[in-house]
Amino acid sequence: MGLVAQARSVVAYASRGRPPWLLAMRPYYVTTPIYYVNAKPHIGHSYTTVICDVLARFHRLEGRPVHFLTGTDEHGQKIERAAAERGLAPIELADQVVAEFRSLWERLAISPDDFIRTTEPRHRVGVEAIVRRIAAADDLYVGLHEGWYCTSCELFYTEKELGETRECPIHASELEWRSEENVFFRLSKYQQPLLDWYESHPGFVKPESRFNEVKRFVEGGLRDLSVSRAGLEWGIPFPDHEGQTIYVWLDALTNYISALGFGHEPPGDELWHRFWANDEADVIQVIGKDILRFHTVYWPAFLLSAGLPLPTTLWVHGWWLKDEQKVSKSRGNVVRLDGLIEQFGADPVRYFLLRDMVFGQDGTFSDEAFIERYNSDLANGLGNTVSRLVTLSRRAFGGRTPPGDCDDNPLMRQAAEAVEKYLQAMDACQFERALRALSGLVGETNQYLVEREPWKLIQQEEKRDSLSRILWNGLEAMRLVASALLPVMPGVGAAVLAAVGAERPESWDDLAWGGLGVDRELPESAALFPRIDKEKYLESIAASETDVEEEKDPMISIDKFFEVELKVATVVEAEPVPKSEKLLQLTVDLGDEQRTVVAGIAKQYEVADLVGRQVVVVANLQPATLMGIESQGMVLAASDEGKPVLLHPDSQVPDGTRVR
Ligand code: ME8
Ligand code: MG
Repeated sequence: MGLVAQARSVVAYASRGRPPWLLAMRPYYVTTPIYYVNAKPHIGHSYTTVICDVLARFHRLEGRPVHFLTGTDEHGQKIERAAAERGLAPIELADQVVAEFRSLWERLAISPDDFIRTTEPRHRVGVEAIVRRIAAADDLYVGLHEGWYCTSCELFYTEKELGETRECPIHASELEWRSEENVFFRLSKYQQPLLDWYESHPGFVKPESRFNEVKRFVEGGLRDLSVSRAGLEWGIPFPDHEGQTIYVWLDALTNYISALGFGHEPPGDELWHRFWANDEADVIQVIGKDILRFHTVYWPAFLLSAGLPLPTTLWVHGWWLKDEQKVSKSRGNVVRLDGLIEQFGADPVRYFLLRDMVFGQDGTFSDEAFIERYNSDLANGLGNTVSRLVTLSRRAFGGRTPPGDCDDNPLMRQAAEAVEKYLQAMDACQFERALRALSGLVGETNQYLVEREPWKLIQQEEKRDSLSRILWNGLEAMRLVASALLPVMPGVGAAVLAAVGAERPESWDDLAWGGLGVDRELPESAALFPRIDKEKYLESIAASETDVEEEKDPMISIDKFFEVELKVATVVEAEPVPKSEKLLQLTVDLGDEQRTVVAGIAKQYEVADLVGRQVVVVANLQPATLMGIESQGMVLAASDEGKPVLLHPDSQVPDGTRVR
């Protein structure tokens, strides 16, 4: 590195306190949670994954060896049930959903180095290895486990944690009472070691407020944790405990190290030694606040027990909300990004996710907010400024960048501040602040042009030098913005760099002022971001809303299906409804009661043919009045091009028999 470059990088890194030549060697490992395969990916999964992708790209650009892991959590009762509801084997459901995740990650420009599935043999090797180490530390015993269980969380709750309603505090769903023999982990033994660890590692959980929450929880005392389930088929058998299956969270958390080859013979464990069991490595785990306790209490306790190193930092973000509630499949208020990605591409969606959410806090999604952000920051801000500068330069300098650069001007100082803020904010996962610093610089560049009015100088030969400096400064500022945007908008960043005639940065040292060449070819570029008419866009969304609604989650749960009470009944009387061609009034016997039901079958069925026949009736339908007659239920019929064909049991059954 030359002296000047070194001096620049010292400026750029001054506030970060680490010399770049050391940074360049330290491995960086970043992980997303592994996602359940009981539902398609939604905005929440996309958010966490985009964050990790941005961190991975940022640190790759810094020149560090990076390993970025994501994957899927495929075992446990929740998946077993979801598969059964769809009439699939668990692995069939998993394969389908994994394909959805992979496809979305491709469309969102996610660049993982690895994708782990907990159903892979390499994962099982790692899980068995950690369980054996925990057993060797004498931290496992067999005991009786009872309590209120949430199958969505895969977690027992204490009476204290529940309100009067016995609802899951996360999913607001009903809990099950369970009692069984399980293998327990001596979590209580790790209360003090955990508190000591927190004390000596002040950056272990971020932001601070979440760390405090964790500390208070652990200070309140830890109960031993059940780490096996009896009678669960879909999972990894517990070593040395016949009939027990490893609790899905112990299984799932281990993905972070099984994916690195933990538990494998050398050289199969090379990544493990490079990215985890290495003091030099940064191990960064990004999670949502819903899984805080698992990652900041149970996970480090498992690792301490197994005598393995702990991660460097757990970054905890908030929730995307819709209608004031967490977006989640179990709440049924899913927001998917597929439509936005298809229309706008990955980059504006990635930008929006990071810019419109303050990391750590909750945020609310709306299409309106997306379009406003897109128009203000991207179409009007970055897009217009770049196109203005490129057009003026091409006109003034024969299709080339300006012939003279400039190393003393107000824009340069503003750029240095913006870059500094950006780097600091990126280090602190304050993506919204980092992006604000960049759009601030775009605004200042615009302002600089408005004040200097380069368009008025084009015809004046004697102003050529100053015209050159002004435009070069503007283009250079855009080079910096585009470079810094690369982790967030890899495609757009590269397009802007090409548009202003700049090279891709080789490291963050290149965020120092002065990198844009002079008198270089400046290609004519297409518009980067066509402006979107907000009203029209929102109308078009509203028009397609109903389809989308159905598409979102075409499956219903078995519980929902069972809400419909279908029963077999015998028709005991039938007569035409006066003044109606279609309707018949039927009296049906449900075994313990008789009811009047009106059915639109007069054209297809004779009264005489109906009496004595068994039919299927919806027994818990709200009564409706048809032609003045109250119908207390509904008779099921197949609709063959609109013509009803009655359903009946294959052989005679007692009236009132439930259909399911
Ligand atoms: O919990 N807003 O998987 P999961 C923001 N398999 N982020 C959200 C979100 C929302 N509304 N909804 C989900 C699991 N997320 C376990 C993890 S890890 C060893 C096992 C994100 O499919 C958030 O990061 O329910 C959350 O932690 C993760 O998705 C959970 O996804
Ligand atoms: Mg969840």
